[in-house]
Amino acid sequence: GPLEEMTLPLYFGWFLVSAVQDNVRCTAMDFLKTLDTLEVFKKHLNEFTGKAEKEVDLEQYFKAKGTLHCTTKFCDYGKANGAKEYAEKQAVTDFYGSAFELSLSALFVTPRTVGARVSLTEEQLLLWPDDAEKEAESVVPAAASLPLGSRAHVTLGCAEGVEAVQTGFDLLEILALQQAGQQGEVAEEMELGTLAYFGEGRWLLSLREPMRIPAFFSSFYG
Ligand code: A2P
Repeated sequence: GPLEEMTLPLYFGWFLVSAVQDNVRCTAMDFLKTLDTLEVFKKHLNEFTGKAEKEVDLEQYFKAKGTLHCTTKFCDYGKANGAKEYAEKQAVTDFYGSAFELSLSALFVTPRTVGARVSLTEEQLLLWPDDAEKEAESVVPAAASLPLGSRAHVTLGCAEGVEAVQTGFDLLEILALQQAGQQGEVAEEMELGTLAYFGEGRWLLSLREPMRIPAFFSSFYG
């Protein structure tokens, strides 16, 4: 019945402790602020604006999407494939409510989304659905051949009219290019790390020092 269906959340994931959410947001904002002043970025600006604009304010371009988290399983209140099976997994029930440390290893920007790549530990991978990458195959064909956990990310913002689910697809696209041997064109050495360009408005900043962020494994009902 409808009540039973409501017992499954919209999604499971790691929720960044609120005290550090602002740190992550500020780091991302600083990065965007710097990125849109770089000559190398301006050269490819039409990939963002579609026209030959001279400037874009990336901080305005991307809209924040609520509380910062790394989705493990999107359940859609039970309507998503495998939602019930995931909720019943041993690791999920064992670790529910537990504290973890997430490692944010890169920031990425595309004309659609801005996000942080999350590099999962072996233990964290126990909470990662086996088919998370495969599920993205219709959007990113090479996704299924990427290692488990490749899709793990924190959505930091989306362009007008873009859904948050896009952030994971954008990350997978960049990782698929890397796997195919394209390391990206090194665009700039920044204070935070190395910025590489992957074409079509796709930028990846590999952080010199990963950000280690406390987060709780839990779920969101909306
Ligand atoms: P993400 O994890 O990339 O931020 P929404 O607000 O659009 O309903 O999404 C709620 C959360 O679930 C967001 O974190 C979003 O993306 C994630 N999400 C939405 N749809 C999917 C999907 N089909 N597959 C995986 N994650 C999804």
